[in-house]
Amino acid sequence: MKDGYKWVGFQYEVTGNIYSLGRIPKCKTAMLKHLKPGEKLLVAGAGHGTEAIQAARMGVHVTAVDLSATMLKHLNARLDKCMDVQGDMTCINDDIFNIQDLGKFDMVIANFFLNVFPEKRVDEVANHLADLVKPGGYFVVGEFVFPQKGIAGLIQKINWYLAILFYSATTEAALHPVHDYAGLVRQSGCEILDIEYFKILGLKLYWSILGKKK
Ligand SMILES: C[S@@+](CC[C@H](N)C(=O)[O-])C[C@H]1O[C@@H](n2cnc3c(N)ncnc32)[C@H](O)[C@@H]1O
Repeated sequence: MKDGYKWVGFQYEVTGNIYSLGRIPKCKTAMLKHLKPGEKLLVAGAGHGTEAIQAARMGVHVTAVDLSATMLKHLNARLDKCMDVQGDMTCINDDIFNIQDLGKFDMVIANFFLNVFPEKRVDEVANHLADLVKPGGYFVVGEFVFPQKGIAGLIQKINWYLAILFYSATTEAALHPVHDYAGLVRQSGCEILDIEYFKILGLKLYWSILGKKK
């Protein structure tokens, strides 16, 4: 199985944290408050598993899926250090399209996951993730914000392209403009209930979108 993060996976979490001045970790966990102990969460492209581990601490049953064995190795190393995990965590080293538990999850989270796919594929991925959510459950997308107009939009684009230029050069991630993530959540058959923005100096740079499956 292709491990696109073999050489750069080790620094992923800490660099994202520093680069965003702590906003990215906050964005990743923002919508966990909508989960209750005993519910089922799937984290797609879980990486180092910030939200997956926090959910397990809350007593949630977590399935973390990632194509990269390197990323899952880092997730497991963090998990091993946690003494207070109430729930359980199943880690699956596989392509998300091989997860076929349709309609089984109370929440599916895609944090900084849809951005690795090119424009021609991203709606197929978003639709598959929404298909894994049970009716009335949640589809959560944490991402770079869709650029506004003017100077704000220019800075938002620079913030995105600095990150994607590095990751498209070093991993399998595709180089593309910022996707319309709110549009993708809607198209996948979810109603948007809430959006939280994560700002630096008042500028919206990241957002967490809470979609509810109809
Ligand atoms: C940009 S990283 C985001 C990681 C994590 N969600 C975070 O926010 O830190 C994208 C992750 O998706 C994983 N990935 C990419 N394509 C995948 C696929 N088809 N199925 C499962 N995981 C995939 C990569 O290995 C990587 O860990």
